[in-house]
Amino acid sequence: MISSRVKLLSSSSTLKITALTKKLKKEGKDVVNFAAGEPDFDTPSFIKEKAKLAIDKGLTKYTPSAGTNEIREAICRKLKEDNNIPCESSNIIVTSGAKYAIFASMVTFLDKGEEVLIPSPFWVSYPEMAKLCGAKVKVVNAKARDNFKLSVDSLARAISKKTKLLVLNYPSNPTGATYSENELKAIYDVVKDKNIIVLSDEIYEILSYDGAKHVSFASIGDAHKFTVTINGFSKSFSMTGWRLGYLEAASNFIEAISKVIDHTTSCASSVSQAAGLAAIQDKKWPQTMREEFENRRNLLFNGLSSLKKIKPIKPSGTFYMFCDIKKSGLNSVEFSSQLLDKQLVSTIPADSFGAEGYIRLSFATSIQDIEKGIERIKSFSLGL
Ligand SMILES: Cc1ncc(COP(=O)(O)O)c(C=O)c1O
Repeated sequence: MISSRVKLLSSSSTLKITALTKKLKKEGKDVVNFAAGEPDFDTPSFIKEKAKLAIDKGLTKYTPSAGTNEIREAICRKLKEDNNIPCESSNIIVTSGAKYAIFASMVTFLDKGEEVLIPSPFWVSYPEMAKLCGAKVKVVNAKARDNFKLSVDSLARAISKKTKLLVLNYPSNPTGATYSENELKAIYDVVKDKNIIVLSDEIYEILSYDGAKHVSFASIGDAHKFTVTINGFSKSFSMTGWRLGYLEAASNFIEAISKVIDHTTSCASSVSQAAGLAAIQDKKWPQTMREEFENRRNLLFNGLSSLKKIKPIKPSGTFYMFCDIKKSGLNSVEFSSQLLDKQLVSTIPADSFGAEGYIRLSFATSIQDIEKGIERIKSFSLGL
């Protein structure tokens, strides 16, 4: 009954742990949740108010499939000003979450048997989406000694005649690694003139730490011609449930991706778009959230730094921290399960991110919980 394409898919391990954590919490257990994949802040009220107003004004019908003119223009202004991407509003498509922007792009570009290069550790959905398109996933290992960044040598070696798409994700879920402008230029030099499309998922852009400025791949040289930039509202405005994302690409790409949107989702939610329009024009709120996350990152990193068998790796962005647990003698699934069992601390084993020997901790949780979690991990580590 089930198609061969869907039979190839693995179910999302991150969602499984999140569900188990929620279940334990519901049973009254005092779980410290380091597994969350979304900011713990409420959506700001100035955004919610605009959504309520949109409903009252009757903005409850289909919008143009690429999104309302207002939001596309506002996104375009943001991409020009903040990201230096040479775009017009017609280069933007607003989607039902960034996840769907990625899937619609992959469906648009990938033919059966074509290769997609995915640097590991990777966000779990990239390989699964590529498989759904019938493409061949080629994982390119971004090594710990390179701070989990794709080296140009590994990239050059991985490229073949069948390579169609390279996925970049920075700041990265799950490692928090990000690329400097020079590092992006080096990647650009490898892929330009090779007929490869770059899918640059920059959804964690706003969460860049230590004063680093996020640089968009599409702003480098003529990369705009062959890059689809992915971004959205989930992580920068704490709007995960509103399902609002967007992509930016050259006109010929937009024309093709639009057909997929037309015949699948029709458009992103009209109410969410009205809310997103208010969000994207505000620069202050995401910065306040970023400062809070940066403080939490420092607290968690400093708290775990002295442990012998767990080595935290300081992320340059996102709200995730990768930890090397190889010295514990456990594999990542054993580590995460025992930590949840013995100390009620929920984490994600990184085997599903293509990185055995690591776990991912999310600091999208309160300072009190981070402090409690550090103490529990210390106790767990003493018993290893
Ligand atoms: C790297 C990455 N890209 C895309 C997404 C999807 O975001 P959205 O909620 O906009 O679909 C996520 C969500 O966890 C993510 O981690």
